[in-house]
Amino acid sequence: MLPTTIENRNGIMFIDGVSSLDLAKRFDTPLYVVSEKRIRQNYRNVFSNLKQNYQKIRINYSAKANTNISVLKILESEGANLDVVSPGEAFLALKSGFSPERIIFTGTNARDDELKYLIESKVLINADSLSMLERILKIKTPDTISFRINPMIGAGHHEHCITAGKDSKFGIWEDDALAAYKRALDAGVKKFGIHMHIGSGIMNAQPFLLALEKLLEIAGKIRKTLGIKFDFIDIGGGIGVPYRLGEKEIDLAEFSNLILGAFNKGVKDNDLGEPFFCVEPGRYIICDSCVLLTAVNTVKENPNKKFIGVDAGFNVLVRPAMYGSYHHVLVANRMNAPEEQECDVAGPLCESGDLLAKNRKLPKIQEGDVLAVLNAGAYGFSMSSNYNSRQRPAEVLVNEGKCAIVRERETMDNLLLHQKTARWLK
Ligand code: LLP
Repeated sequence: MLPTTIENRNGIMFIDGVSSLDLAKRFDTPLYVVSEKRIRQNYRNVFSNLKQNYQKIRINYSAKANTNISVLKILESEGANLDVVSPGEAFLALKSGFSPERIIFTGTNARDDELKYLIESKVLINADSLSMLERILKIKTPDTISFRINPMIGAGHHEHCITAGKDSKFGIWEDDALAAYKRALDAGVKKFGIHMHIGSGIMNAQPFLLALEKLLEIAGKIRKTLGIKFDFIDIGGGIGVPYRLGEKEIDLAEFSNLILGAFNKGVKDNDLGEPFFCVEPGRYIICDSCVLLTAVNTVKENPNKKFIGVDAGFNVLVRPAMYGSYHHVLVANRMNAPEEQECDVAGPLCESGDLLAKNRKLPKIQEGDVLAVLNAGAYGFSMSSNYNSRQRPAEVLVNEGKCAIVRERETMDNLLLHQKTARWLK
């Protein structure tokens, strides 16, 4: 199903009340169009469903999915907290108006200078290894610390997106968890959290449930052995969204009943008091808020295949090339046209894998048409690049008929930025 913010008005796609064709004309393509209303709807949907089953809910939006500062400001105004994974994301979060105590860093393999920046910025840290803990303590004993635990249950839409289990680079194993909390306690840390993140693009609650039960058991052991009271218990992100029309979405009310049912029971059984229950959705909040508009410049009919050549390649949206991900494509200027031909939608990069869609049934397409690639909000712009010396696209925010540019399209000069000519070549 299309999000309610995408409408078909006489064959033309409108996004949050704004004509996609007007946007393409005014700001050119490729163009990321983000709906403010949809971000707010998604955030409130997660929050209200979880709140049904537990009072102390905290939503840490996972900034890596989309770090545009307007997106961050919208979520700040909704009352979200933030999950960040680099000093750069922490910097953007602070610039967007988040106070440091609303930001938690869950990075891996961080350098000492990065940890120093985070500690000096006063953001919370969720340590990923005993090594990170020792290096944090050398800089300064924080008041609060959390540890990312590997609950040994992972899940995700692609093997690259499974982030727990015995081969995972992330998190601390159960056997080391006690030592980590003891070391922090002995060093003078006063408040604690515990965290897991098992993967991304998970379409059912079962893996979360199994992993959460394991996490609570580990938390219980720590509580019993060290007397630690947890301020928060964080189950990470990973709630998937449907990318195909007709695919069933995760039922958040059911998810909330199941997960918070287990949480309430586990907290009681393990004498864990009343910690905040945290989740870190990235994709769920932002994915379907955004459409990528890309113009058709070439129609090529080979004897074997038809190619629709567009101006967005995997430099703009890498997910199809990187994970084989499906993104639904509509013709923004002829939404009522019947699907009557099979084709590949190909970008301008010099790689055969530069396809936004493969063997896709689409209406008959002409040069000059504008295609809308759906679900482009999560890991779209944030994974874009300058490959083939192409410029990153612009981003526009729309809201009930209004639009504003929230990131300028890069220019040729961006390609020279930070480059220097070696003195002997001058
Ligand atoms: N928390 C942590 C610690 C994470 O590493 C991630 C995502 C999240 C939360 C948010 O997960 P989400 O709710 O968005 O699934 N580039 C891939 C996804 C990689 C996710 C990495 N970590 C993709 O385009 O599918």
